[in-house]
Amino acid sequence: MSHSLTPSSFSQILCTWQKQYGRHDLPWQISPTAYKVFISEMMLQQTQVTTVIGYFERWMNQFPTLSSLAQAHLDDVMHLWQGLGYYQRARRIHQAAQYIMTHHKGELPQCLQALQSIPGVGRYTAGALLSFAYNQYGPIVDGNVRRLFCRYFGIEGVPTTRQVDQQLWDLAERYTPTQNNRQFAQALLDLGSQICAPKKIQCDNCPLKSSCYAYQHNKQADLPTKKPKKVLPEKKGYFLWTVKENKLFLEKRPQQGIWGSLWCLPQINEDLIEQYGTPEHAFDHKFTHYQLHAYLIYPQNIELTRGQWFTPTEIKKLGLPAPIYKLMSKSLKFLS
Ligand code: ADE
Repeated sequence: MSHSLTPSSFSQILCTWQKQYGRHDLPWQISPTAYKVFISEMMLQQTQVTTVIGYFERWMNQFPTLSSLAQAHLDDVMHLWQGLGYYQRARRIHQAAQYIMTHHKGELPQCLQALQSIPGVGRYTAGALLSFAYNQYGPIVDGNVRRLFCRYFGIEGVPTTRQVDQQLWDLAERYTPTQNNRQFAQALLDLGSQICAPKKIQCDNCPLKSSCYAYQHNKQADLPTKKPKKVLPEKKGYFLWTVKENKLFLEKRPQQGIWGSLWCLPQINEDLIEQYGTPEHAFDHKFTHYQLHAYLIYPQNIELTRGQWFTPTEIKKLGLPAPIYKLMSKSLKFLS
């Protein structure tokens, strides 16, 4: 059986590991200031470290201080952010800089509550600021920490659910030391991304393995618990395949609903199937909100009214739903 280490042994082991194997030369780690940490943490949300480095350096050249950022035009801020994605983040940073100028005389505060009232600053960023900028007690839980804690402490359940999230933050609060916070926080992130990685897990090189629940129980691949795939409701769709003189009969779908305004095989309601023939399964297609099981019916001698006849060449130029077009191209003698 594995027993978790005490908080003080845990942080000691992590800090020793960080000294030797962690990252020390990221641009925001060099003479860290609250402003540098703030900008880097905002950039690092959903963007990889290697991408962020260049953006961070350009940013610091153009907006070296919080007040220069607060006074900048939003257009210039957005321009520097270009390529990082999630542009809401750039607007928030600009807003945050102005908020800090107005409410905190231009200085990022040093208390968790005051930090969290800054636009765009949540519990993670506030903890990261306390740890990285001020070397103070500041618990952090991000994707890396979630993975590491779920494995190390053997926490079952989807980590983003309220209950598990609460458990993770409780652990972070208990296990975060009151000294060496900068190093401890960096150790958590580095161990989480380099060793306790999502896929290429490197337990052999992990300083925590002798007390790690997942390692001891061989559950590294099962933890954290994966979010169950949503079970989609299923629907059946019946489509008419009607060919005459090498032309296929298609109708334009209504603007509303799936495949709005696209040309498609005519679709009929379930209660009319018998009138047209016997359905044969053709393909399945996943939409965001349901799974479609599509069936083809080959109707005999029926009057078709609402659509038009198209040759294969004409069909190639129309806008058609991808799975319907794929189905047509499989019928090689027809569309070749
Ligand atoms: N991700 C978020 N903050 C980070 C940091 N300080 N170093 C590396 N990765 C991070």
